[in-house]
Amino acid sequence: MSGTTRAATAALALSEATEQLCAASVADARLEAELLLAHACGIDRAHLIARLKDPLKPTTIAAFRRLLARRLAHEPLAYITGCREFYGIDILCGPAALVPRPESELLVDLALAEVRARGAALRIADVGTGSGAIACAVAAHAAAARVCAVDVSSAALALACRNVEALGLGGRVDVGQGDLLGGLGALDVVVANLPYVSESEWCGLQPEVRDFEPREALVAGIAGTELNARLLAQAPAHLARGGLLALEMGPTHARALSAVARTHFPGASVSVIKDLGGHDRVLLVRQGEEARWRTTT
Ligand SMILES: C[S@@+](CC[C@H](N)C(=O)[O-])C[C@H]1O[C@@H](n2cnc3c(N)ncnc32)[C@H](O)[C@@H]1O
Repeated sequence: MSGTTRAATAALALSEATEQLCAASVADARLEAELLLAHACGIDRAHLIARLKDPLKPTTIAAFRRLLARRLAHEPLAYITGCREFYGIDILCGPAALVPRPESELLVDLALAEVRARGAALRIADVGTGSGAIACAVAAHAAAARVCAVDVSSAALALACRNVEALGLGGRVDVGQGDLLGGLGALDVVVANLPYVSESEWCGLQPEVRDFEPREALVAGIAGTELNARLLAQAPAHLARGGLLALEMGPTHARALSAVARTHFPGASVSVIKDLGGHDRVLLVRQGEEARWRTTT
């Protein structure tokens, strides 16, 4: 914003901020400006829209400027406001974990469909839980379900614990540290959004992602398929008869990971689900009813 006189009302502050965000190539510049100003005012966006002609206090303008400067430096909006809506619930966000993405809601849909079809007593795991978004969304929408939320990162797990507590899901989401499925027993549903960016892709990611989100939450290795392939190798020892494994993957990984899945699950049905953008996004493995499993514990 150029000065306090021009930006005296919310409407003026928003139009100036929108221009600046557009110039910085921020998509949805107007929406983001509104969310930042609402955050600076301590109100929600609907209330802000209802008060566009109200004058802003100097302290609010100063706070908005600070938030806007962070966004203009390409810090993700969710890190600035500390929150992101995911599957109808508010997830606390911070630099310890990836900001939950809309495409990952597909994993929640799949887990909830499974609960509806087979009952809430299913043993469900969210591997690479990060902020805990997927585990919390499943538990929040399936009243009796219990979910194990696992990650290697203790910083991410601290955030996941805050989300579990804030959403009142303690006792239904068990947060624990582990490497993939190691330490878990038999499971009926495994959902995982593990890192799937390749080393070479990482440099070309947008600054919001590359410069702010944890690299270890994004990059899997040289190919990008490494962690999902390792999970597929571990999973036969854990997935119960008739169980479901749903892995989010990079849009070019379907063929390679389907081949890995067929090697480790010879009797299973393996399929690929596209996201709303039409990209291959989730690898689905349905363990055959006749398949045998053994626990590792
Ligand atoms: C792409 S982020 C996804 C976070 C969250 N599930 C979401 O969708 O917003 C991947 C997560 O996997 C975790 N991770 C990486 N390697 C792992 C491993 N070997 N075992 C368990 N979690 C791992 C990372 O720490 C990170 O939090």
